[in-house]
Amino acid sequence: MTTDELCALVCTMHNIHIITHPIVQDRLTRLRDKGAEAQLFRQCLNDIAMILAVEATQHLPTKAVTVQTPLAQCDGVELVGKPLIVPILRAGLALSDTLNCLLPHADTGHIGLARDHDTHEPHIYLNKLPSDLKRPIFVCDPMLATAGSMIATLDILVQQGAKTDNVTLITLVCAPEGIDKLREKYPDVPVYTAAIDDCLNGDAYIVPGLGDAGDRYFGTE
Ligand code: PRP
Ligand code: URA
Repeated sequence: MTTDELCALVCTMHNIHIITHPIVQDRLTRLRDKGAEAQLFRQCLNDIAMILAVEATQHLPTKAVTVQTPLAQCDGVELVGKPLIVPILRAGLALSDTLNCLLPHADTGHIGLARDHDTHEPHIYLNKLPSDLKRPIFVCDPMLATAGSMIATLDILVQQGAKTDNVTLITLVCAPEGIDKLREKYPDVPVYTAAIDDCLNGDAYIVPGLGDAGDRYFGTE
């Protein structure tokens, strides 16, 4: 078995799905380039978001239906239920907008978190979740660095009644340290991502990473 195959097997065992689709990896490389302007950055992130969203929603429940085509009756399927999309503000909006295009019937619950520059701990400034959390939930945040923001969001969801079996995480780039910390508290929640990078630096930024995802996406650098 090659190192790549072994790595893929370990990720699958830990319910971590690294999307190696060439369009995802092409756009990720463009995002990493520090010369990419905000407009290109947004376009590339939106392209990746679409493919991650397709992958992450592959287990949504459906029911059998029959439709009449212009020529004959045809058996098909229809999505059932109303999923919930939870972007972690602000950068999570970069993923959730696309997810919402695929699932226009979904609700959206917003969690606002800002990471403290010195302690790297997340501080909550907004919690706007619906009361019904017993349904498929997709939590979106492009960067999983220390995982503090993702874990804080999962804690809030669980405290308010969500079951972790219903939760799927969508990220763009993860740090191995963050994955380890996430797995200590939430061993099974599936993660869909484009990359697991090398490490965190002293400021808890992902290396090589792509810098500050929110600032680059919204042009607030
Ligand atoms: C960034 C990012 C994640 C978080 C990741 O958000 O979008 O939410 O940091 O770091 P962690 O895994 O160590 O918690 P930031 O707090 O910079 O806010 P922003 O989205 O408004 O830019
Ligand atoms: N937040 C970001 O936007 N990028 C990082 O590398 C870490 C946290």
